[in-house]
Amino acid sequence: MPETLKIRRLAGALGAEISGVDLAQEAPDATIAAIRQALLDHQVIFFRDQTLTPERQVAFGARFGPLNIHPYVAGMAGHPEVMEVVKEPGDRVNFGGGWHSDMSFLERPAIGSILYAVETPEFGGDTLFASQAAAFEALSPGLQVTLEGLNAIHSAAREYSAQGHSAQKRKSMAIAEADGLVGEYVHPMVLVHPETGRKALYVNPAFTIRIEGWKTRESMALLSYLFEHCRYEGFTCRFNWRPGSVAFWDNRSVWHFALNDYPGQRRHMRRVTVDPWPVEAASKTARRAEAVS
Ligand code: SIN
Repeated sequence: MPETLKIRRLAGALGAEISGVDLAQEAPDATIAAIRQALLDHQVIFFRDQTLTPERQVAFGARFGPLNIHPYVAGMAGHPEVMEVVKEPGDRVNFGGGWHSDMSFLERPAIGSILYAVETPEFGGDTLFASQAAAFEALSPGLQVTLEGLNAIHSAAREYSAQGHSAQKRKSMAIAEADGLVGEYVHPMVLVHPETGRKALYVNPAFTIRIEGWKTRESMALLSYLFEHCRYEGFTCRFNWRPGSVAFWDNRSVWHFALNDYPGQRRHMRRVTVDPWPVEAASKTARRAEAVS
């Protein structure tokens, strides 16, 4: 690890703050490798006092994989991979204000997200993170084995529908509503991390709509239990933003939740989202869901 890089753990289950690196500079491969390792070790990592232009945020993100262009949220003019996450003082609903894993509704879900704080409220607006690896490990061996044999169906249809939380109108974000043709994709309910081998639950309240081959009532019973279990405080950490803060989380094993507790204030973030490399996609286990009766 480069000598200047310091890593400080923030909580028992996940989260570490990294200092001694300027993300605005093109980092040597050894530094990027150390950051990647820290992400694998801690699942979400944080940096303070950075100054990132959209170009630099894109350049930093692209060191970890191809960048996603969101299917519903319009990117910045000239930077389609950069999503501006803005809550204006007059907006009621924030973006990301419920537990979720980014882009699990895609065939090839994002592996990571990098969020940079441009403007933060005077108070509030923290983001919560929950380790889904810790959530899996806390289950009984019997339930672990059962879940390892199950797949779940994910879709953006509910969250990005006209009534959904994500598609609500916000002054400074252009978000399209998902139409009736939005896809459904099947992912294993327990994801074996392709880089660490650690197992994590891979269902989330925003985008997981049912368990494959189960009746809706049966699905809801088990999913409701898991959604409750997965957000137990002991699996979480909480990050208080300042302008210039950066969070980088691993969507394969982490849920996150943007708190909406700063009425009348402005919060402005920029996110780039890292897709899997094509080689990882080749070994993907997702497939399109069959129609259900
Ligand atoms: C998101 O879900 O990507 C937004 C998180 C945040 O604004 O804290």
